[in-house]
Amino acid sequence: MRILVIGSGAREHALAYSLSLDPQVEEVHVSPGNAGMTAVATVHPEGEPLELARDINADLVVIGPEIPLVAGVADVLRDAGFAVFGPSEAAAQIEGSKAFAKDVMARAGVRTARALEVPVGCTEKFKVDALTEFGPTYVVKDDGLAGGKGVVVTTDKQEALDHIASVHAAGNPVLLESFLDGPEVSLFCLVDGETVVPLLPAQDHKRVGDNDEGPNTGGMGAYTPLPWLPENGVQRIVDEVVEPVAKQMVADGVPFSGLLYAGLAWGEDGPAVVEFNCRFGDPETQAVLDLLKTPLAGVLAAVANGTLGELPPLEWEDGYALTVVLAAEGYPEKPITGQPITGAEPGSEDRGVRAAGVARKDDQTVSAGGRVLNVIGKGQTLEEARTRAYGVMETITMPGGHYRSDIALPAVEGRIEV
Ligand code: GLY
Repeated sequence: MRILVIGSGAREHALAYSLSLDPQVEEVHVSPGNAGMTAVATVHPEGEPLELARDINADLVVIGPEIPLVAGVADVLRDAGFAVFGPSEAAAQIEGSKAFAKDVMARAGVRTARALEVPVGCTEKFKVDALTEFGPTYVVKDDGLAGGKGVVVTTDKQEALDHIASVHAAGNPVLLESFLDGPEVSLFCLVDGETVVPLLPAQDHKRVGDNDEGPNTGGMGAYTPLPWLPENGVQRIVDEVVEPVAKQMVADGVPFSGLLYAGLAWGEDGPAVVEFNCRFGDPETQAVLDLLKTPLAGVLAAVANGTLGELPPLEWEDGYALTVVLAAEGYPEKPITGQPITGAEPGSEDRGVRAAGVARKDDQTVSAGGRVLNVIGKGQTLEEARTRAYGVMETITMPGGHYRSDIALPAVEGRIEV
């Protein structure tokens, strides 16, 4: 199989790496990719996905990020006859429009936060009244695409008002939500119409600093599976959340095909939806795929070809995987790029390194983004996985680079209760 992966982050590096290990796969191509993944894939400059898919005669196109999905790139490729892993433009609205997602959930009877739209151009009084109604913890979401970065969760009313103003200034409406209490779960499900196959549950660490301090980021680390989740936790999420939504979307004439990412809070009554995404999550994917034993290309092709229901059960390695993100100085506000990196050269994926904001300049690997790379560690216990990941991270150098030291630590120390 010749596979084209669209995207450029550590998630796409992880996808390309796992795909390259599948005996069915002859070639992996990535566009635009990054300079850290050239050992496992042919990296093409950013271009028209359709032209590229034609040039390489792709058997399967895997679209990583939400922006091309919401823009309808999967439809263009499918209309041209390509097998595509990724939802249609219409189904990608489950991530692209929080209002669309809320409407589907309401009709599917799925538990989620109460929400109110704060439209562009509304009065200051409307904003203040809405915040008063939803406080004391304010969840202020950009109702446009924000790559997981458009949410501010704060008890500071002024910070909430400032975020509303900045989202409105960008021309997007705001969605104000009631705060869902309880530990967060990311459950990625392969979805093909009404067929749902869950992957391992994971947890992301979204704040930039240890002990969940500092601003929200795109994700600073993740681990999988979740030792604290009730034994029937994944099944409950599938039964109570993902299957009802998948069925509702089929009934609405917008069937979902691809990866449906349920972001949940596990509260007193079990799972409630924080948000849906229409793609693999970053950085959880890096950890989750590292435990998948079933060759990945066949799995993604089954979804793309509408035969997910015939796929044998997925096989997983025992134990845990964990990923830690190395971020640039100044991230998330103003990342400094162009810093030399050692220990993350192409080929380092075998040591668990997955590259994101990485470029090559004058024969040197340099940083080119806020989240620069991930390191994955695996072990029979979460503690062992942590030791491995941090052991490799300590061998990587980048001036000003920072990472959280407490990925999975609350779980290791038994501090997460449901
Ligand atoms: N894990 C956060 C995201 O992918 O949006």
